[in-house]
Amino acid sequence: MKSRNLIPVAALALLTVGGAVLAAEPEPTTLKAIMAGMRVEMSRIHEALWTEDFDTMSTAARAVADHPHVSAEERTRIQGLLGPDFGGFVAADKAVHDAAVRLSEAAAANDMDKSLKELDAVQTGCVACHTDYRERLLPAKTSP
Ligand code: HEC
Repeated sequence: MKSRNLIPVAALALLTVGGAVLAAEPEPTTLKAIMAGMRVEMSRIHEALWTEDFDTMSTAARAVADHPHVSAEERTRIQGLLGPDFGGFVAADKAVHDAAVRLSEAAAANDMDKSLKELDAVQTGCVACHTDYRERLLPAKTSP
């Protein structure tokens, strides 16, 4: 019985999910820890906005786009809690990722109008996911 084949197949399936938050990674990274990091980066973006520090805006936006991934355990927890809605969660993550990439590019081009527009898209994406999923995924719902 060649059950060891199951592991690579499962890993491949996870990679194809494609959500930045959701790819497999060895470290025990929780959603909460990732969110705390994104909060800091968003504050950096806002600070940089007022001083027109486009370099910092661009770097911090890139950090939002490339935030760490959840651990395999955390991903399983999220999938278990969301069931059929998991796909929507992945899409919400991707929307923020894509907007953060666009913001990073706009800031790198010193384009304030476009930066503002994309910052709005990032924030709208953050809040949209919170509205739809946060309540269902709070740490209280974590396995002990
Ligand atoms: C794909 C869904 C999703 C996206 C996108 C998302 N969040 Fe979250 N966020 C959550 C969930 C779920 C929680 C609750 C997790 C928890 O408390 O364990 C949360 C919680 C938080 C928290 C509270 C953490 C704490 O310590 O209580 C902050 C801050 C946060 N998010 C910031 C952000 C920012 C900033 C963005 C956008 C750059 C963002 N989030 C995008 C799902 C998302």
